[in-house]
Amino acid sequence: MDLLREEHASVLFQLVDQSRAHLRRWLPWVDANRSVADTETFLREVIAQHRAGKGPQYAVYWRSELCGVCGFHTFDLTTRCGSVGYWLGARYCGLGLMTAAIRQLVEVGFGEYRLERIEIACATQNLKSRAIPERLGFYYEGVVQNREYVDGRYVDHAIYSLLAQETPMTE
Ligand SMILES: CC(C)(COP(=O)(O)OP(=O)(O)OC[C@H]1O[C@@H](n2cnc3c(N)ncnc32)[C@H](O)[C@@H]1OP(=O)(O)O)[C@@H](O)C(=O)NCCC(=O)NCCS
Repeated sequence: MDLLREEHASVLFQLVDQSRAHLRRWLPWVDANRSVADTETFLREVIAQHRAGKGPQYAVYWRSELCGVCGFHTFDLTTRCGSVGYWLGARYCGLGLMTAAIRQLVEVGFGEYRLERIEIACATQNLKSRAIPERLGFYYEGVVQNREYVDGRYVDHAIYSLLAQETPMTE
């Protein structure tokens, strides 16, 4: 994993552009990302967010290819809670890459940032996404209804958490 930087814009845009159908179903920003310039804007926001102490976002690699992104969506150092988001380009799915990346991200959250709670929220029907916190031993807390509007419908979110003192993270 590597902190996202402006130089990633071109490769990151290509990755999104080649995986639109796969990503659009679960991520609300996909259709608004139409050019390398849009990706540059996103990357500048991410870098500013990190500088403001709101948590890092990382490029995920398969061999030396940038294959996806993971990071902290919300990051509150007062309550010491962080929520995690992630996605992979379609052709990089099924290899265990994101489970490994989230294991590393959790270690950064509890280790470097001394978080108390890390949360993952997945659309209840997004079984591939739910499998990640489940593989890593997160606790299933329940469902929040109509939590997100994505791809023309509201989706409920399944909420998972891991606390600093519980670190099973085994598969
Ligand atoms: C969510 C998403 C990242 C999951 O991708 P994924 O490839 O299933 O997740 P991983 O990289 O952890 O790989 C797990 C898969 O690799 C397999 N695998 C192979 N080796 C593995 C290993 N060493 N460890 C874990 N899994 C391994 C697993 O069996 C699993 O495949 P399966 O679902 O066919 O059983 C992907 O579906 C995605 O980008 N979706 C669109 C965006 C999205 O939904 N983001 C999340 C919003 S909450």
